Amino acid sequence: MCGIVAYIGPREAYPIILKGLKRLEYRGYDSSGVALLNNKLQVYKKKGKVAELEESLVGKDLHAHAGIGHTRWATHGEPSDRNAHPHSSASGKLAMIHNGIIENYTQLKTELIKKGYTFKSDTDTEVLLNFIEDIQKNNNCGLEEAVRIALKRVVGAYVIVLLDKDQPDTIIAARKGSPLVIGIGKGEHFLASDASPMIEYTKEVVYVNDYELAILKADELILKNLGNEKLTPFVQKLDMEMTAIEKGGYDHFMLKEIFEQPETIFDCLRGRLDAEKGVITMAGIQNNIEHLKNASRIIMIACGTSWHAGLVAEYIFEEICRIPVEVEYASEFRYRNPVIHKGDVIIAISQSGETADTIVAIEKAKEMGAFILGVVNVVGSSIARISHAGAYTHAGHEIGVASTKAFTAQLAVLTMIALKIAREKGTIDQTRYMHLLGGLHNIPEKVKEVLKGSGAIQQLALKYKDAGDALYLGRGYNFPVALEGALKLKEISYIHAEGYPAAEMKHGPIALVDEHLPVVFVATKDTYYEKIVSNIQEIKARKGKVIAVISQGDDIISKMADDCIIIPEADELLAPMLSVIPLQLLAYYIGVAKGCDVDKPRNLAKSVTVE
Ligand code: F6R
Repeated sequence: MCGIVAYIGPREAYPIILKGLKRLEYRGYDSSGVALLNNKLQVYKKKGKVAELEESLVGKDLHAHAGIGHTRWATHGEPSDRNAHPHSSASGKLAMIHNGIIENYTQLKTELIKKGYTFKSDTDTEVLLNFIEDIQKNNNCGLEEAVRIALKRVVGAYVIVLLDKDQPDTIIAARKGSPLVIGIGKGEHFLASDASPMIEYTKEVVYVNDYELAILKADELILKNLGNEKLTPFVQKLDMEMTAIEKGGYDHFMLKEIFEQPETIFDCLRGRLDAEKGVITMAGIQNNIEHLKNASRIIMIACGTSWHAGLVAEYIFEEICRIPVEVEYASEFRYRNPVIHKGDVIIAISQSGETADTIVAIEKAKEMGAFILGVVNVVGSSIARISHAGAYTHAGHEIGVASTKAFTAQLAVLTMIALKIAREKGTIDQTRYMHLLGGLHNIPEKVKEVLKGSGAIQQLALKYKDAGDALYLGRGYNFPVALEGALKLKEISYIHAEGYPAAEMKHGPIALVDEHLPVVFVATKDTYYEKIVSNIQEIKARKGKVIAVISQGDDIISKMADDCIIIPEADELLAPMLSVIPLQLLAYYIGVAKGCDVDKPRNLAKSVTVE
């Protein structure tokens, strides 16, 4: 949540910051702003998307070689010009951007009010900024020292980046809990929430750790801890290309990412799965196989779409590894005093690797002695770093706010992990193991087949776009897919949708069914097929409109449903990687047909870095 960008060096700062903010808009887009330092400190900010800020700045003198920029997802204070970042200190000497939440800001604010401070915004950020300025005044010290002293009092999560009118050659930044990347150029430095704003300028980056302070000049980077000790920056090579952050001819990132899935699943399997030899190579799993195969229990921890991937994995792990699995919402797990034993393994699933709820849940489980395995997409992200071991999903940069390709990559990785554990434990026989490896190997090609049906799904979207509600039903492996389909529809088209296990419908939700309600069944050929056929009958008997995702060759449901989406057959354990794709497309095309901003749905942000 919230995207930050900063630049210091010989180039004009504003165009770099503006472009960077556009790339980071997925992190929040209710207001944005820039502060530019060039003898004077100029702050410009505006409610709305970055394009609105850009428009408001046409004709202004934006010349500067140091600057900071911010795109906001509101926490404290409604989206408005006044609450947008950067904030200026009481004296006007400092400007600051912030990503995170200062939990004890009320206490700090009360102290400052007693000292005569007044506030222009409702934000925790302005409070922290004035707290820093107050320390600077009282201790007669430089900004760096004031920031260090202030952060010792701060409770919460932050990345803060500051400009000081009296130090025009310096940017100061600090991190705890929110992501911060520094790009090292020749005589210039970049700083951002992720590497996308700096990708065309440098491939050398430093991921700043919690409780670290960065002092950036054009030609110097100093990294310190809060105890003022110098640290050696760990410079890494950036593995990201420009194509990853461009739409590549698609109307939206979401559509591009849906269509990338044959390649992203392939990339995820590449170098790991050898279906002919029957080998899965995953160092993070192999090196910790004793922990994993002897786990007394596996707890999947995640949020949103990643939580749905965890639910599919629950079915897979229990089926082939015979290990009990629980799937927990990270936010609930953390605060309900969970019972964790030493033999428990936590599998933390996250696209961004920065989800605050998941991070605090991991920290809690770690404290209690659990082994943490991260299944993460963003390389070098916080969850990747705090896990004991892990496996990256390699889905590439996901920009559309609604998660699509990350989900299928999570399923591919989790399936491989389960197969590897099952093989080591001896809970899967050779024939089934080889069959599943072969099936997994064929998934990318089958995804291509599913995508060929996108035109028909677009037509279907036009038929159902005016629905007020929708029900998504599935059983077994396809139950979490139904949940995911409903989530996609809600977030992209703002149509109210519920996902349910198909059999559970008769315990309540069936009361909703009438001739206006579209009911989407995920009903591929599997163990539950006969049962789901009965559930479809129950909906038809009440005049509900049935849209069914079915397997090729199905001649029963195809005759019962109002509309069918046919996908290739696959083992039931692997089918979710195919059956979810029509649901992603349906949500996308309905969102577009309704004129929604599908890449930036209202009220959402891609990376939820607040609890
Ligand atoms: C839904 C979506 C969210 C995320 C959730 C977890 O389309 O994108 O529900 O899945 O916020 O995010 P990560 O996976 O980054 O931890």
